[in-house]
Amino acid sequence: MNVFGVDIGGSGIKGAPVDLDKGDLAEARHKVLTPHPSTPDALAGCVKEVVTHFGWSGPVGVTFPGVVTGGTTRTAANVDAGWVDRDAQSMLSDLLGLPVTVLNDADAAGVAEMSFGAGRGRGGTVILLTFGTGIGSAVFTDGKLVPNTELGHLELGGHEAEKRASTKAKEDEDLGWHHWARRVEKYLAHVEMLFSPELFIIGGGVSRKAEKFLPLIEGVRAEMVPAQLQNNAGIVGAAMAAAVAVGKG
Ligand code: BGC
Repeated sequence: MNVFGVDIGGSGIKGAPVDLDKGDLAEARHKVLTPHPSTPDALAGCVKEVVTHFGWSGPVGVTFPGVVTGGTTRTAANVDAGWVDRDAQSMLSDLLGLPVTVLNDADAAGVAEMSFGAGRGRGGTVILLTFGTGIGSAVFTDGKLVPNTELGHLELGGHEAEKRASTKAKEDEDLGWHHWARRVEKYLAHVEMLFSPELFIIGGGVSRKAEKFLPLIEGVRAEMVPAQLQNNAGIVGAAMAAAVAVGKG
C-alpha cells in the first residue's frame, strides 16, 4: 500500500508517495525550499504544493522539527515561533482536504530506520540521532518509541548540544571533520552516560558521509552505525505514522 509522506526540514520540504511494503519511495520525491520566515501559513502552503504535485488523495503523514503531541506542535527551535501550540494536524487536514498525521521529524526517521533500516530487528535501547539544522532524537526500547525526547537540547559544557554539534554548527563555524567529531563524541558520550543504549543510529544528511567522522569517534562504548534510509527516513516514517492513524499500518 502507498501512503504519502512529507518531511519538513530546515532547508527543504520534501515529499513522495511511499511504498509501505518496501519502506521506500514509490516515486521520485518533490522538494520545495523552506521559506523564511517559516510561519505556519508559509510552510503549510509548501506542504500543499508538494502533495498536489503528485495529485495525491489519501492519508498524508507530515514531520515537524519540534515537539508534537496529539497533532499540536509545541516547540519551534528552528522554525517560526508561530508554530508553538498550533493544531497543525487540523490546519493541514483542512488545507489539503485529506487525513493528516503530524509527528516529530526524528521520531519519524527513527520509526522508519527501526522497520526498514539500521535498527531492523534490534531490541534493547536504541537511540537514533539526526544531525542537521538541529539535533533530533528518537529513543526506542525493544522497538517501541518513547516520543518527543528532544535530546538535542541537552546542555553540554554550558551550551545547548545542538548549538555545538549540529551540522549547522559545523558549517557556521567552518569546523573540519576532526574538530566537529570531537564535539559529536562528547555529545554521544553524554547521551550514553544517561541512557546506556546498545546502539546509536546516526542520521541526517551527514550520515551519507559517515566514513568521514564515525571512525574518529572512539570514546563511546555503544555500537554506532549510519542510518540507512538517509534523506528519505523522515518521509517513510511520516507515511508509516499516517497509515497507523487510519488503521492501515
Ligand atoms: C527540535 C527537535 C527536532 C530537531 C531536528 C530540534 O531543534 O527541538 O524537535 O527533532 O531539532 O529537527
